[in-house]
Amino acid sequence: MNETLQTIFQRRSVRAYSDRPVQDTDVELIVRAGRYAPSGMNTQGWHFTVLRNQDKLKSLGERVAGVGQTFFYNAPVLILVSYRIGNRFAEDDCACAMMNMMLAATSLGLGSVWCNRINGNSQFDTSLQDYGVPAGYQVHGCLALGYASSPLPADRENKSDTVTYL
Ligand SMILES: Cc1cc2nc3c(=O)[nH]c(=O)nc-3n(C[C@H](O)[C@H](O)[C@H](O)COP(=O)(O)O)c2cc1C
Repeated sequence: MNETLQTIFQRRSVRAYSDRPVQDTDVELIVRAGRYAPSGMNTQGWHFTVLRNQDKLKSLGERVAGVGQTFFYNAPVLILVSYRIGNRFAEDDCACAMMNMMLAATSLGLGSVWCNRINGNSQFDTSLQDYGVPAGYQVHGCLALGYASSPLPADRENKSDTVTYL
């Protein structure tokens, strides 16, 4: 099996992170992988906000999940993917970018998980300029990123009735 397929089959959502810092170069590669995703009519109407500042991370976690809480499993890095409101392809584009970044993270030995809580929540998803989301953009997904604190879960059972070959 080639390395790309291995990465796809290895990727799992990680929900417990160690304190090991993530290298800047790895974060940059992961964001670059997101920016290389396909987008409808090549509009690339997305924005990537990389949050690494611990005070910002803590305050965003508490703002969304409540005092002393976090919605991104205390990961050391959180990447918010947002899109320009009004771009009709943008949600699909952002999902492609999220997937590219998850696979890039796996390939670099890093764990990740898509964290919903902001998107679809009108209290937050368009009002995070203090956290680097541009005005006029809506958050579509957040990617927690870091080194897993324990081995990845065993292989996932996949539903068997989800494919039709004719
Ligand atoms: C659109 C989307 C939203 C998700 N939201 C969350 C979330 O808010 N919190 C979480 O822990 N996992 C979230 N996940 C991860 C899924 O729970 C996970 O992908 C699924 O259980 C399969 O497990 P695996 O990723 O390890 O294969 C999300 C995944 C997707 C694609």
